[in-house]
Formats: sequence, structure tokens, C-alpha cells
Amino acid sequence: MRTLQLSWKDEHKGQVSPMIYGQFIEQLGDCVHGGIYDEHSVFSDEKHIRLDVLEKVKRLAPPVIRFPGGTVMCIYHWQDAVGPVEERKHKKNLIWGGVLRPEFGTAEFVEYCRRVGAEPMLCVNMASGTPEEAGAWVEYCNGTEDTYYANLRRQHGYEEPFCVKYWCIGNECYAEPDIGVQHDVHTYIRDAKEFIKFMKLEDKSIKTVIVGCDDTPGWNKPVLDALQDFADYFSYHFYAAENDRGLYGPFYGEKLFLDRIHELGELLDSYPEEPVNYSKWYRFPPRQDKIRLLVDEWNIWEYRDDEIYGLHMTYNWRDAVWAASMLNHFIGDIHIAGCNMAQLCNIIAPIMADDQGSYEQTIFLPCEKYRHSMYGKRLTPCLEGENTLSLGSDLEMSAVSCAVVEREGKRFVSLVNRDFAQPCCIKVPASLKGICYVSADPCAVNAREEKCFTETAVQCNEGESLVLPAGAIMLLQED
Ligand code: AHR
Repeated sequence: MRTLQLSWKDEHKGQVSPMIYGQFIEQLGDCVHGGIYDEHSVFSDEKHIRLDVLEKVKRLAPPVIRFPGGTVMCIYHWQDAVGPVEERKHKKNLIWGGVLRPEFGTAEFVEYCRRVGAEPMLCVNMASGTPEEAGAWVEYCNGTEDTYYANLRRQHGYEEPFCVKYWCIGNECYAEPDIGVQHDVHTYIRDAKEFIKFMKLEDKSIKTVIVGCDDTPGWNKPVLDALQDFADYFSYHFYAAENDRGLYGPFYGEKLFLDRIHELGELLDSYPEEPVNYSKWYRFPPRQDKIRLLVDEWNIWEYRDDEIYGLHMTYNWRDAVWAASMLNHFIGDIHIAGCNMAQLCNIIAPIMADDQGSYEQTIFLPCEKYRHSMYGKRLTPCLEGENTLSLGSDLEMSAVSCAVVEREGKRFVSLVNRDFAQPCCIKVPASLKGICYVSADPCAVNAREEKCFTETAVQCNEGESLVLPAGAIMLLQED
């Protein structure tokens, strides 16, 4: 059995942002309509919100939810989905197929966020929309003066502003969209600046997210050089897949993810804490804090050539272990300000809902348990001993992943054994207690009525060892 010695440095490396537990809903398939919202379901309330789903979302307690896309933002015009429901426009969803249903629009989304306790994050259409349209959306949501779009919101029954703070300036604009303008780096810089001007002049307090890129060389640095004063966050999307590589498939993407995060972190660090030479003629303030990274879409997505592009994913226990170790990375990285799991319901999702009811997929577990345990000040963990898991020549990673946070004088520890073949004996530096979650079969999936994993209480005294079973997730706190 592998043996490791756990320790941590008591030196804090900043606060873990609660925003790493964010979620995302897109007007895509049955994520919104037929997922969190359903006019026909017996589980819905008078506002058509699925209460069984809402109860689960509340347990996930996302501090922020992103909407309405995703790629669908290429065709999303917010004015189609506000005001009296019978007057809203039904249009073809030219991106994902089916109909782009307008009943769950801006106001319904903001109300949903309020019910859950999340901050809304909206994404503006740069592919077939205009900067003026985006500015008008900010005015509709946040306007307090006697102006047309603020008054339109009032006419729609919402006297108080929605105070939407987070705004994404496009989505994956580097990729050739299915429809609309494709941006190269120069046109993105030009257009994003124009969008931000129209939006920030409507509400100087909004926070903007500009588009970063995984695989288009020559994108990130020029975009940041030109826009870093105007933006608060730099977005990066990460999807893993099994790609016919078997049990450890999704872990093959980890090195790429860590390398990218490292590179992006270094790039972000190269900009001054406070903007310099920012012209006051912009008439809105520059960013107030250091620009930070937002992983505003992340999950396992196994693309398939079916009607829904494989987006109705079924997640097994291995995927829960993968998600838990991603959360450990998010906690440990000082550059990451937030993350949004893609997506919340039915589409590559922790929650599944249909006519029969709703249930939690395996990946729900780490999202829920970490959210309520792993927040506070970030400490640096250390696992001494032979902690390498090698699978042939092409995959080498740490077998046990760990994160440690501190709050109110207590340490909270998350341990994930990504080795599905052997347990690990871990000597601990303090008395710890908590819960161990594990499944006998990494390929097992949750059924509607039955979870595929067990929960066992754990207790271990200072200087003693605990056993972290193969493929287990363990959440501990100082006793
Ligand atoms: O989450 C599904 C899709 O993945 C989103 O619409 C897009 O932004 C990403 O490529």
C-alpha cells in the first residue's frame, strides 16, 4: 500500500473564492426548459420552477450562475425574452436545434438566482448582437434613472434594479461559431472594447469577463495587453473526455489544464496590480482589483455524434473522483477567481430531471460537499512519500490529490485517491474527523433511487494514519 505523510504550511495564500462553486445554465436542450423550468411538470410551482430540482440546486448553493450561454449567445437577443410572456418571441435555436424558448428570460433567471442565493452572470451576444443592445441590457437590468430600458423593466413589473454584477463579453469568440461574426484576435479586441464601453457607461460598477482561449496561439496575450484595464476576469473553458482511453481517460487532460492555468497565471501576474495610464476620458473606472482567471465552463464532456452532441452525459464514480480533484486544483490556485460547472441540469449536469422526477448524478456529491466545507483561507498542503501514479508512458500524475483551507482557527482537508487500484495510508499532522465517500466500482453510476457510493465516518488522531481507499474522496476537519 502507498504510504504518505500529510502536512501543511500555516502560511495563508489568500482566500479561496466561493465563486469556484459556480454553475451554468444554457438555453440548450432540456437544461432550462424541461430541467429547472417546466410548465407541464407536476413538480413545478405556479411560476413553472421545478421545485424538486430547486431543492437540489439549493443544496449545491452556487454563489453565481451563468446564463444564457454558452454558444447559444451567438443568437440570443435578450429583448425576445422579457415582458409579457405571450408577446415574447419563439425562434429556432439555430445553434443547438429545437426552439429557443423565451419564457425563462432575464427576469425569470434573476428571480431564480435570488431564490437560490446566487449572483446572476449574464453573457452578451457578440456574434449577431451589437454593443448598443448589450448596453441596453445593462440598462434594463441595472438602470435606476428615468430612461427607456430602466422604465421598460419597471413596466414589466420590476421596480427595483436587478443589480446584475457579472457580464461575460462574448463566449469562445475565437471559435468559428455556428452562426454570426467570427472574431480574430484583432476584431475581438476592437469589438469587446466597444461592448465594454456601452455596458460600463450604463453601469460603472459591473464586472466584465473577457474571452481567453485554450488552443488558439496568439490570442491570450494580445487580448490581455489591449483589454486588461477594462476587464475584471479572463475566461478559460476546460472540458475533459475519456477519449477511448479507459478508466483514467479524463485525467489525461489534467496536465494540459495545469500547464494552461500556470501559463495564464504567469501572464496575468505580468500586468500591474493597478492599471497605469488609464485615460479618464473613458468616463468609467478601470478594473479595481488584479485581473483574475474565471474557468467559467468546466466538466467532462464526451462528444458523441448524436442528436444532442453527447450532452446527455451519464457520470460514473470515476467522474466524481475527477471532479473532486479538479476542485482541489481550483482551491489551490491563487489565480482562479471563479469556476462554473457546465451545466447545472440535464446537459452535462450534476442534476437530471424528467417527467418522473429528478436525481443526482455522481458529480453532484463533490460539488455539494466541497461547497459546504472547503472555503476559507488557502493553505499549502504537502504529501511526502511516493505519490506518483504512472500508467504506461503517457500518463503520470499524483495518485492522491489534496487541498487544505482554514477558517475560524480550524483546518479543513480534502483528500482524493485517484488510484483506483490501491488504497493509501496517510499519516496526519492533527486530529481529524470527517467522511469518506467511495464506490466499489469506479464505473458505477447513480440510479434514481440509489447512490453508487457509500459514506463512512472517519476519525484519526494526530500522528496516526488513516486509510484512504482506492478511488475515495475524503472530507475532513480538525477535531
Ligand atoms: O457547455 C456546452 C458548450 O460548450 C457551450 O455552449 C460552449 O460555450 C462550450 O463549447
